[in-house]
Formats: sequence, C-alpha cells, structure tokens
Amino acid sequence: MIINRTILTLEEFRKQELRMLPQATGELSNLLRDIALAAKRVHVEVNRAGLADILGDTGQLNVQGESVQRLDAFANATFMTVLQRGVSCAGLASEELDDFICFDEEICNQSKYVVVLDPLDGSSNIDVNISIGTIFGVYRRLTETESACDRTDFLQKGKNLVAAGYIIYGPSTMLVYATRRGVNGFTLDPSLGEFTLSHPDIKCPRDGNIYSVNHGNYYDYDEKVKQFIGSCQYGTNHSGVAYTHRYTGSMVADLHRNLLKGGIFLYPATAQYPKGKLRLVYECNPFAFILDIAGGQATDANLDILNIPPDTLHQRTPFFAGSSGMMRSFSKNSFSRNGSSSSPVVKSPAS
Ligand code: AHG
Ligand code: MN
Ligand code: MN
Repeated sequence: MIINRTILTLEEFRKQELRMLPQATGELSNLLRDIALAAKRVHVEVNRAGLADILGDTGQLNVQGESVQRLDAFANATFMTVLQRGVSCAGLASEELDDFICFDEEICNQSKYVVVLDPLDGSSNIDVNISIGTIFGVYRRLTETESACDRTDFLQKGKNLVAAGYIIYGPSTMLVYATRRGVNGFTLDPSLGEFTLSHPDIKCPRDGNIYSVNHGNYYDYDEKVKQFIGSCQYGTNHSGVAYTHRYTGSMVADLHRNLLKGGIFLYPATAQYPKGKLRLVYECNPFAFILDIAGGQATDANLDILNIPPDTLHQRTPFFAGSSGMMRSFSKNSFSRNGSSSSPVVKSPAS
C-alpha cells in the first residue's frame, strides 16, 4: 500500500533517493543524517541565545586571528563530536581548527568521506539576533580507506565535491544541500524535531535584482568592481527592474536569499584583506558547488571558484557568486579582458 504523505522528512527523502540508486552504500546518507543531528543541536543553542549564557566571545583568537565567539566554539565542538562518533567521516577541516583533524580510528578510517566546515558563519551577528549559518562540504577521499586521511583529501578543487550544503538559523531553521542530483531545502519542523522537504529541486533564477556587497569598503574596491556597483545603483536588470541592495554580513543569509530570489553577492579584495576575506575551502567552494548545481555561478573575478586548486586550508579568495545572467553581466562589465565595458542597461542618475 502506498501511503500518501505530504511531508517528506530528510531521512525519508534520502531513503527514496537510495531506492533509485541501488549501487549506493548509504554512507553519504548517514553522513547527512549526522550533519542534520549536529545542526539540530546548534539550532537549540542558537534559539536559547539571550536566555542562556552563551553569547559573547571566548576571549580566544582562531588561527586566522579572528575572535572566537562562544557559539562558534560550541558549533565547532558539536559538529566535530557528532562526525567523530559517526561511521561516515574520516576527518574534518574547520574554520575553528588550526589544522585538519584525522579521526584515525578503525571505524572512521573505513569511511570514504571527509568534511570541510564553517561551523558558524556570520559570527558578528550572533549577539544581535540576526540570521547566522553553518556551511559544509563533503569530499570523497583521495587516500585509501582503511588508512588515515591526510591533507590532500581536504585540498581538492571544489569541482570534486560530492555534496555541499548549509544550515540557516533564521526565523525558521533550514538545511539546504546539493548533490549532483539537485539542490533541495528542508525546514526544521520543531514539533517533529525533523527537517522536512519544503523547497524541492531549487533552481537559482537566471536573473534577479538584488546585489549584496559591503558598501563600507567601497573605496577599497578595484575600479571595475566599483563600475559594476555603479551599474547596479543606476541601472535595471534585463527585465527592466531596478536593482536593490541587501547585505546582512552573514554570507549564508545573503546567499540563501539570492539563491531563492535571484541576485549577486560580491566580496572583493580590500585593503584589510588583499586576497579577499572569505575562505576558499569551507565557505566559497560549498556555495560555488550549490550554485553550480542550481544553475548559478561563482568566480574569483577571473577563475571559476570550483577550478581553483587550494594550497592551504584557510586560504582566502575574492568571491563573486549568484544568478548566471547577473554573473555574466558582472564578468562582461567589470572584467572584460579587452578592456571594453558592456554594462547592463544603465540609466542616468537624474532619470
Ligand atoms: P565568519 O563569521 O564565519 O568568520 O564569516 C563572516 C563572513 C561572511 O559570513 C560575511 O559575508 C562576511 O564575513 C562579512 O564581512 P564584512 O563584515 O567584512 O562585510
Ligand atoms: Mn563564515
Ligand atoms: Mn565561521
């Protein structure tokens, strides 16, 4: 008998997918289940922020010299513990760990996967109750199973990702993840305690009218980036709709909105961060992978993010990502190699 269920939990969704892939071992499903469990634990803590004593910083700096918030440390410990206790992850590289960790014990070594993680994205928003997130990517190991994983497993190009996703802790908590089969979004149903399929088969609109950038750094930006921003301020998109600016300071929130509505996100190089602020391995690559599967694009202004070979775990990169049509305008307008500028429809400031 087929039961007509309107709500599909993440677990049920993965089981349905497994039925269509008889050769699959289910290991990736187990890993996603572990990630979802850690996300629920972080969700509980995030929702108590302001009530429990978990706001503020730990007084410590991470390897990149940034202050570690208590929720950063909590999220990092939670994901690490859940993945280490599970049976589907051989090791972890995280924003909050100086170096990667190889779990190196018999069961974990049997796993074919390693995980890259930004445990808490948008830390500066934690204390002021604005959406924050978690970003993750899953690579198939280059090293043999039954052995310890090593650095090469984590320093793969983004195009080798097997799965990537994020959790957004917003008005509701959502887990969105991509595999080569598509991008799907699940909203946490607090009464069930389960992520349930709410956004099946997400496609990023080809065009949108949102641009997201930190205007406070405007005078640091390359002339060509400034030109593009100008074309957004004074122009319309290809459908004649005026651009609007939205920027929260939480990349997960900004890219989640732009993924669903259509838009472009820019984090160019600045005087403070001459190589860009965002980290290639665990921030940019997972989002570049999600966008690629959803029909969008991501570059460092010259190269496809997914084709950049990482040299180090905490490497930074300029990051430009979003709807394919807007990314094309950005590339043509801002980075035309022959120097010609073919900007989108630009109105004069007075019109
Ligand atoms: P994290 O909290 O993981 O260090 O990342 C913060 C990032 C990203 O989420 C956001 O887009 C960006 O920093 C905001 O930076 P600015 O405040 O410089 O705009
Ligand atoms: Mn981050
Ligand atoms: Mn972070």
